Amino acid sequence: MRISVIGCGYLGAVHAACMAKLGHEVVGIDVDERKIAELSAARAPFFEPGLEELLGEVQETGRLSFSTDMAAAKGSAVHFICVGTPQKKGENGADLTYVDAATAALLPYLSPGEIVVGKSTVPVGTAARLAMTLEQAGLNAHLLWNPEFLREGHAVSDTLHPDRLVYGVAGGSEEHEAVQVLDKVYATPLESGTPRLVTDLPTAELVKTAANSFLATKISFINAMAELCDAVGADVTLLADAIGMDDRIGRKFLNAGIGFGGGCLPKDIRAFMARAGELGADQALTFLREVDAINMRRRTRVVELTRELCGNTLLGKRITVLGAAFKPESDDVRDSPALSIAAQLQLQGAVVTVTDPEALANAARRFPELHYEESTNSALNRADALLLLTEWREYRDLDPYETAALVSTPRILDGRNVLDASKWRAAGWTYRGLGRP
Ligand code: UDX
Repeated sequence: MRISVIGCGYLGAVHAACMAKLGHEVVGIDVDERKIAELSAARAPFFEPGLEELLGEVQETGRLSFSTDMAAAKGSAVHFICVGTPQKKGENGADLTYVDAATAALLPYLSPGEIVVGKSTVPVGTAARLAMTLEQAGLNAHLLWNPEFLREGHAVSDTLHPDRLVYGVAGGSEEHEAVQVLDKVYATPLESGTPRLVTDLPTAELVKTAANSFLATKISFINAMAELCDAVGADVTLLADAIGMDDRIGRKFLNAGIGFGGGCLPKDIRAFMARAGELGADQALTFLREVDAINMRRRTRVVELTRELCGNTLLGKRITVLGAAFKPESDDVRDSPALSIAAQLQLQGAVVTVTDPEALANAARRFPELHYEESTNSALNRADALLLLTEWREYRDLDPYETAALVSTPRILDGRNVLDASKWRAAGWTYRGLGRP
């Protein structure tokens, strides 16, 4: 099938490459010339494991191209909208400028019978509004909402082998003619047994925000337990293991630490609360305010613990922060708790050095005032305290004896609870976890 993918960020670039991998003829469109130039040369404009190999592989088949010109969408049977919906400046709601602009720019190139499929995370009600825009244009083109659940760092496999496919269509009927079209797009995952649910438009939009809210709640729940564990000297990692053995609860997403960040969970729960307020249902989501507050409190807690670890003062202390990305296997620093902690420590008088295997360029753009060091060993050199804030494999695998020889004082705060505390203590380190005795 001929497919256009509008917006080539984390979501769209991966989606375009994966659709070509599934055998479709795909054009990726974005207004950002640099991004399109990179993608056209089969280079990933951001770090995502497996993406560059996939781009190279599918471009060789001639099935994937990129353009900055919306006219390239003409003639595609399916148009995916994959643009960003960031948080509005100074407000909780989502900024829909890009979604609206992409839809408006696409209209002149749509032909009757084609379908427009939204994948971006949007406030409930957006799809119905865009469907109305299409209807008013008299194009006889359908609008569907097909939320995307990919995780950064696993984006390629999540797109090729999704847990489930959700199709939101006006009226929510399986008989809707566009359902068959989307079934053809996803023929490969459907044949391999991926469940597919057909819903109405608002349910499909809500599935995404509800899923992200649930995940955020799970993380804040365990972080709240970490606060209690700290108060009584209990161990939150064992607590998580024990409650996670109940398969109604499950162990995944119960890792206590410095909290969640990234381009999705924080802004999605805020946009969800804002939208609930507009709909007069704000009481239903007041608990998300607490989820957000618990999450933000983690960052302050780490700053306080670091101060304690450094003998109750941060002034002039050389602090090395291991990890800048909001999670490992990503170079994304949007709302990264690691960087926000690093910046706070620096503001409070510490001399902070940040290192990360992939995210330093993005980090330096966002926080130019911090000092960055590419080599882990140089970053460790003469540190008064280490903070492990993003659990990249290479930091989890650090040898406590070799590391002790590099630093000035062997003190470590394990912000992700991933190190073996007894091993580090045996090597002479003062070890602090979060919610661990
Ligand atoms: C998330 C959703 O998982 C995905 O389904 C959705 O499509 C987009 O948002 P992503 O932002 O890539 O994906 O990251 P995710 O793996 O969910 O992690 C989010 C944050 O939570 C990270 O900062 C991570 O470090 C943190 N986290 C995750 C924890 O603190 N503890 C955990 O147990 C799990």
